[in-house]
Amino acid sequence: MRETIESQLYSREAIAARVKELGQQLSRDYAESEPLVVVVLKGSAMFASDLLRELSIDVEVDYIGTSSYGDATESSGHVRIVKDIGASLQGRHVIIIEDIVDTGLTLDYLLRTLNLREPASLKICALLDKPSRRRAEVPVDYIGFSIDDHFVIGYGLDYASRYRNLPYIGVLKLEAE
Ligand code: IMP
Repeated sequence: MRETIESQLYSREAIAARVKELGQQLSRDYAESEPLVVVVLKGSAMFASDLLRELSIDVEVDYIGTSSYGDATESSGHVRIVKDIGASLQGRHVIIIEDIVDTGLTLDYLLRTLNLREPASLKICALLDKPSRRRAEVPVDYIGFSIDDHFVIGYGLDYASRYRNLPYIGVLKLEAE
């Protein structure tokens, strides 16, 4: 496959401005509680580290790892927790930080699994949403940007483990050689 970065979708500045807004919104909505922020590895790491610094409230941060696509651009539909959260969720207000909601299968699985641990509330904050690709209905409470059906890379998002370090979000075009 030949890979080309076709276009830049969101610049570093546009991302920073939207992340700041999300941080302000979360700080208002969680002003009365000390939420547990659960970062879904690895794609959300860059988004989460910027978002967390925009929060003006106290939070606890933990990480969860799910199995991902491997080298393909399509979800297998099989989701697995490969690194679990250390903290207890019981009675806590929990915010899941996700990079992108595509088919929704990963979040659907995570919501069902984490809800069994009896949090006081469980909400989702995703940097990107691709609503046209949804196969499982999941409530996404906070969304950075809603996008069309593109495969995107950069700002934490990868294709075959590359491009995560790009400071912007771009559209990747894949062509058979
Ligand atoms: P879902 O289960 O189909 O919603 O996909 C969830 C995961 O697939 C995301 O957390 C990403 O890691 C990955 N993913 C989905 N779409 C893209 C994309 O356009 N670029 C990079 N990764 C993606």
